[in-house]
Amino acid sequence: MSRRGRMRIVCLCAEGVQWWPQMYSDAVFLEVDFGSKLFASATLHELEALLSSAHSSRYVIQILRSTMGLKLEVCGDADMTRTFAIMSEAFGHEHPYIDAAFPEHDTPAGRASGGNRMLAIKHADPNTTFLKVTDIDTGLMIAQAKWNIYKNTIPPELDLDGDFWENDEEKEYAQLLCREYLIPRRRAIKASGGNLLSLDLLTVDPQYQRRGAGRLLVKWGTALADELGFMAVVEATEQGRGLYESEGFKAIDHWQTRLPEKWAGRGKQGFLWMVRPAKKL
Ligand SMILES: CC(C)(COP(=O)(O)OP(=O)(O)OC[C@H]1O[C@@H](n2cnc3c(N)ncnc32)[C@H](O)[C@@H]1OP(=O)(O)O)[C@@H](O)C(=O)NCCC(=O)NCCS
Repeated sequence: MSRRGRMRIVCLCAEGVQWWPQMYSDAVFLEVDFGSKLFASATLHELEALLSSAHSSRYVIQILRSTMGLKLEVCGDADMTRTFAIMSEAFGHEHPYIDAAFPEHDTPAGRASGGNRMLAIKHADPNTTFLKVTDIDTGLMIAQAKWNIYKNTIPPELDLDGDFWENDEEKEYAQLLCREYLIPRRRAIKASGGNLLSLDLLTVDPQYQRRGAGRLLVKWGTALADELGFMAVVEATEQGRGLYESEGFKAIDHWQTRLPEKWAGRGKQGFLWMVRPAKKL
């Protein structure tokens, strides 16, 4: 049996740290040498089982699949439920903007509603592309991104709308946060003459972070931006900052949404406004 893709094996042994940084390409047999012992295994799962059962007390083993085990594709309609679930899991309740825009997004009803809203956006917005990253071994979608691509287009500045909120005040609060959140982006789109890429959403299932999925999804957009000679922008979280900086984005401003006095005690949304300048063609 062969394994698709490649993987990197990192072994932390009781005697110290040993690295096997080689990449195993399409390996039929994987061999791992722990001092005097040599194990061979046909599959990653067998290797994991062998190592954990025989040596769990002596060795701490981490097996990291490289990005070669991941596949990036454009989403289909059927991916929108999972897209929303990943977003909800990854953001949790750390972002007032997400909590306000997608009420109760971590409940079954909130997830179903959010999935439908993503599907509606996918159908309605001609400037947006939803992407997914799938783990080749398991077939599970582990990450999602939404890139907005504007070519000679300044999109209409629409408010959030619908009947997703429990009352008018909640809807008004969500609409205001959204308007405030989008100020730097809307300015940048206008300043570019409607020629810009905006990374609207990027989230990786928390169980699958630090495996390169986020970088793949960023690179898809930055490669397109370079091809078009466009700048790219993102409203970054602190967690995303390092990834964006390493892909050429620069932090320009710490942005914070403003709220009227009546909502002084409610959550504001902050982010780091980051810009990746256009590459000269
Ligand atoms: C930010 C996020 C998208 C990164 O995705 P990811 O698949 O884990 O990132 P990658 O594996 O491609 O990591 C790329 C690099 O980003 C940096 N990075 C990623 N996660 C990081 C973290 N938690 N802390 C510090 N640096 C981090 C590292 O430099 C990393 O490279 P390395 O692993 O070689 O050191 C993911 O952590 C996430 O979904 N977070 C919650 C939602 C969020 O904040 N999204 C960004 C919205 S703007």
